[in-house]
Amino acid sequence: MNLFADRMATLGTENAFQVGADIAKAEAEGMDVIRFNLGEPDFDTPEFICKVACDNIMNGNTHYCPPAGIPQLRETLANDISKTRGVSVAPEQVVITPGAKPPISYTLLTYVNPGDEVIYPSPGFPIYESMATFVGATPVPLHLKESKGFSFSADELSQLITSKTKLIIICSPSNPTGGVLSGEDIESIAEVINEKCDSSVRVYSDEVYERILFDGSVHKSIASLPGMQDKTIVVSGHSKSFAMTGWRLGFAVLPTEQEAECFTNFNINIISCTPPFSQAAGVEAYISEKTDAEVLRMVKNFEERRDYAVPALNAIDGVTCANPKGAFYVFPNIQGMCENLDVFEHHKSLPTEIKEQAGPSKLIQMFLIYRYGVATMDRQSFGSIGSKDMHFLRLSTATDLESIRKGINRMDKASKDRDGFADFIKEGKHLC
Ligand SMILES: Cc1ncc(COP(=O)(O)O)c(C=O)c1O
Repeated sequence: MNLFADRMATLGTENAFQVGADIAKAEAEGMDVIRFNLGEPDFDTPEFICKVACDNIMNGNTHYCPPAGIPQLRETLANDISKTRGVSVAPEQVVITPGAKPPISYTLLTYVNPGDEVIYPSPGFPIYESMATFVGATPVPLHLKESKGFSFSADELSQLITSKTKLIIICSPSNPTGGVLSGEDIESIAEVINEKCDSSVRVYSDEVYERILFDGSVHKSIASLPGMQDKTIVVSGHSKSFAMTGWRLGFAVLPTEQEAECFTNFNINIISCTPPFSQAAGVEAYISEKTDAEVLRMVKNFEERRDYAVPALNAIDGVTCANPKGAFYVFPNIQGMCENLDVFEHHKSLPTEIKEQAGPSKLIQMFLIYRYGVATMDRQSFGSIGSKDMHFLRLSTATDLESIRKGINRMDKASKDRDGFADFIKEGKHLC
């Protein structure tokens, strides 16, 4: 009998957390490492939000609470989603979860049988592909193209929809590309879904970056469009918008109360409830009149950093970088850098077991950490199916401007270091 259940072989991961181990090793070897790997705001949670949680803890709000979430937060979010998406949401349709990540698993477990097809963006948040595979679904990546600003058309989606499609995942603004679907894109995507999918198909709309938008872009939720609220699970949370990643606070808005009860039951089975003092602070984040100014301050910073990072990356020989419209990531194409450093040739010469674990962009990722002290994430970390020949890195710009300057400078030097790369491969110590 095996120690691990068979299904464990199908579970992927989120490399942003795994890269931490490489950073620690590189630091132990004497590097100082600039962290472009983690997707979290570098700002602290606004003080007025923290104060509510502290007061709640001091006043004894430290016990179990309703598994679906505290009534005040469910009501606040139902009002917010009704207003911002132009739909009518009842508190009973809202389920509070510890972060915006659990609803991904809950959705796959609730709606998808083995063999059903799940369409998801690639590059995209890695948990989509990981959990689709884990539940035995057939993963169907919808490849986002750099040439289209990492957006996709209704036509491209339409070609992937079959009678086996059960779930369509979309994410705008996107992690890892920062791409934002325009109002017209979303309208035509909704039209295709309404036309081609029956009422049992669900759309998972990951909107965690809804407030982080640049150049005057506005957030448009697919749930706002005719016929879509009944099919769409809207997911968002506090982590990115209010710099609350460690509070573990997110939520899902389900098409019906019955579906919300399934999510509540997953909470009961797995976590019981989301901490009540986090939720109380979460209400404050939504209702305080101080919130908008705080969010604007953070977004302005992210925009300023993007405005520095994109031209600086484009100035590196062999790198092209699209201009993201939201979130706090840039996603440069490093195909030319791989050519300049002879990465493809070196890659070919590696033993098969290493080649399988580390594609060319992963080799660059490792080279940058261990030889230049820059932690990035490779393309395959955001969906590996069908992405073998795509060579990109993700850099999170949720770090101060000075570090961004320093980090990109180091990348520029690395991009010219053919001998250093050859030596890194020859040494063979940290290739994957
Ligand atoms: C697209 C996307 N969805 C969901 C999450 C999970 O967010 P949380 O930290 O609130 O669980 C993230 C976090 O990086 C994300 O980028």
